[in-house]
Order: sequence, then structure tokens, then C-alpha cells
Amino acid sequence: MPDLYPLIRPLLRALPAETAHRLTLTGLSSGLGGLVAGAGEPDPPSLHQILWGREFPNPVGVAAGFDKDAQAPDALLRLGCGFAETGTVTPRPQPGNPKPRIFRLYEDVAVINRMGFNSAGLEPTLARLRARRRVGIVGVNLGKNRDSTDAAADYLDGVRRVGRLADYFVINVSSPNTPGLRDLQRSEILDDLLRQLVAARDEAAPGTPLLVKIAPDLTEAERTDIAALAGPSGIDGIVIANTTVARPPGLQSPHAGEQGGLSGKPLFAPSTALVADIYLLTGGKIPLIGVGGVASAADAYAKIRAGASLLQLYTALVFEGPALIGRIKRGLAEFLRRDGFGNIAEAVGADHVLASPARHQSSSPT
Ligand SMILES: Cc1cc2nc3c(=O)[nH]c(=O)nc-3n(C[C@H](O)[C@H](O)[C@H](O)COP(=O)(O)O)c2cc1C
Repeated sequence: MPDLYPLIRPLLRALPAETAHRLTLTGLSSGLGGLVAGAGEPDPPSLHQILWGREFPNPVGVAAGFDKDAQAPDALLRLGCGFAETGTVTPRPQPGNPKPRIFRLYEDVAVINRMGFNSAGLEPTLARLRARRRVGIVGVNLGKNRDSTDAAADYLDGVRRVGRLADYFVINVSSPNTPGLRDLQRSEILDDLLRQLVAARDEAAPGTPLLVKIAPDLTEAERTDIAALAGPSGIDGIVIANTTVARPPGLQSPHAGEQGGLSGKPLFAPSTALVADIYLLTGGKIPLIGVGGVASAADAYAKIRAGASLLQLYTALVFEGPALIGRIKRGLAEFLRRDGFGNIAEAVGADHVLASPARHQSSSPT
């Protein structure tokens, strides 16, 4: 199947960003994903990995925010993703910020968004997750309502109500568009929050991995603190990273001054450096999901060598279309072969020399 995305790209580009996104989701959930080049191709066996006792046929996922209300997780899996993540979902419905709130920075191959957790609330997500056949890995990314005065209560509500419907949880304390949210990353707050959530997970969904998603804008001290509490808090992984509030010099687009979180190409280097930092600080003992600016197999491979076991992407899909997923998988398998790795798990963190080898991942038994 040829890549048809270049044919519809001008139409999507002519529409406001959020309308284009809604159309894409509608198309995917009505089965158009089957027409995407590479969808349905078998995954190269070298990409298969077992993490947290779960089978990931490949390490490429679509990042949170793409399918906030669980409208199309199975369509994303059918596109060839190794896993899908829905959310961020908030306990109660909320509209998010006024539109326009997504801006495409074509000159910079980037996006700025200030969605502000627009969410249909937990109920529709729960109904959709209950209705699906449980094939493939679908994680649920949880947030808090903007007007909530008790952030912990919102996240606990999410973990308890979603329970076993999630294949993994992500606690999102890093979106820049909900006032005060990123303060939850301060270690004295985060430690207590994560311990409560791990305890709630142990009751509502024992064995379901619980990950925390962090911002790329953390100071060195904050990175060290988060890495230090990761093991003792009992969490199972870290998603690195959310969008950045930084504006790297050299952005060309007229939208570069918009408020919100920047994603895409300018985020690749800082978010990959953060993966490397956290991998080293945690001794490679906790699986990491690398997100930020992945737009090619080479980018994906760099994240893996920096220490990510899995990858996610969002902004590059806006510019390149969904056939990118297949291109990344094929390219990754080729890089592994070139460098003499039999399986992707062997390449995780390959850029670093650790005092003792990481032990969290196992490759396919085949
Ligand atoms: C329009 C938009 C909405 C997003 N919404 C969320 C969200 O609801 N929750 C979240 O954890 N991350 C959200 N993100 C951040 C992405 O999941 C990802 O961390 C970030 O965009 C970096 O990846 P990328 O450079 O491949 O886009 C959003 C990103 C974009 C562009």
C-alpha cells in the first residue's frame, strides 16, 4: 500500500489544527487506518520485548493527548503501534482552554499547545475501555480537574475507577497548561502522592504498572530528587517527557511566542538528554518511555540507546502522517541488525556503561 498521507496533508493543513485532529481521530476510529502504508505488516521479531510481564510487539506508541477520551486505542494498535495510551483524562468533564489552543510551527517542525486538559471525564473512557476486546496494550494517562483543590484525590479517583481496565497507568504531573500541576513534581509532594497511588493501585489493580510522566524543564536538583524517589516510591516506570515551556533560540515560526507547551523537533535534544540523565541516575533499573521530537528511526534509536525501553510520538505524526510508524519500526530493526543487537532490549541504554547491568527487561524467548 503506498503512503496516501501526502494526498490528504494539504486538506488537513488548510484546517484549524484542532479540526484536523478531530477529523484524523474520526477517520481512524471508522477504520481508515487500515489504508495506511505499513499498517498490518508483521513486526520484526527483534522489536519484541517483555516489560512488566507484558508483551510489546514493538516499542513504538502514540503519546498521550492524541486520543484523550479513548475513542481510538484499537485503531492506533491496528496502525502498527506496539501499545497505545489514552488520556489525559480528568475525573469530571471539563472544556479546557479557549480556542485556538493548538498551533503548528511549520518552520520549526513543532507544535505549541495549551489545551488545558479538555476531557470528557472518566465515564466515557471507562465505558469505551469496558466495551473493547482486550487485545494489545492500552495505558491510561490520568490528570486532575483544573478546579479541583485536592490533586491527590483526583489521581486516586482515576486509579480506583479505571482499575483493571488499564494495562498501565501514567500519572501526569507535567502538563504546563494546568496551573500548579507541575509543582506536584517537587519531591516532598511527589513522594507522598506516588506512595498513595501505588497503594491504591495495589488494591484496585494489583500488578498494573504505574508510571509518572515528567517535564523536560526540571532543574538538575529536581531530576536527582525524582530519580532518588523512583525506586522507594514503588512506581514502575517514568515517561520522559511532556512538552516544554522553554523557547529554544532560533525558532522561526510566527507562532513561536504563543503560550503553552512546545513539542516536536526542538524538544528532541533536551528530552533525550533527560532520558539519559534519568537512566544513569536510576542505574537503568526502572523502564523509561522516551517521548519528545521522535520523527525518524534514527531519533527512535537514539532514545533507546539513551535508555528508553519504549517510545512515543505525537508531533511528527502531524507533519509526516501515520506511515511514519512503519518506517520507524523497519528502520529500528535495521539499526539493531547493523549494530549486532539480536533484540531491542539489548540496545536499551547502550550509550552508557553502568556499574551493574540493568535487569528490568527481558527479550522475546523466541
Ligand atoms: C496537542 C497536544 C496535546 C497533548 N496532550 C497531552 C495530554 O493530554 N497528556 C500528556 O501527558 N501529554 C500531552 N501532550 C504531550 C505529548 O504526549 C508528548 O509528551 C509531547 O508532545 C512530546 O512528544 P512529541 O514531540 O512527539 O510531540 C500533548 C501534546 C500535544 C502536541
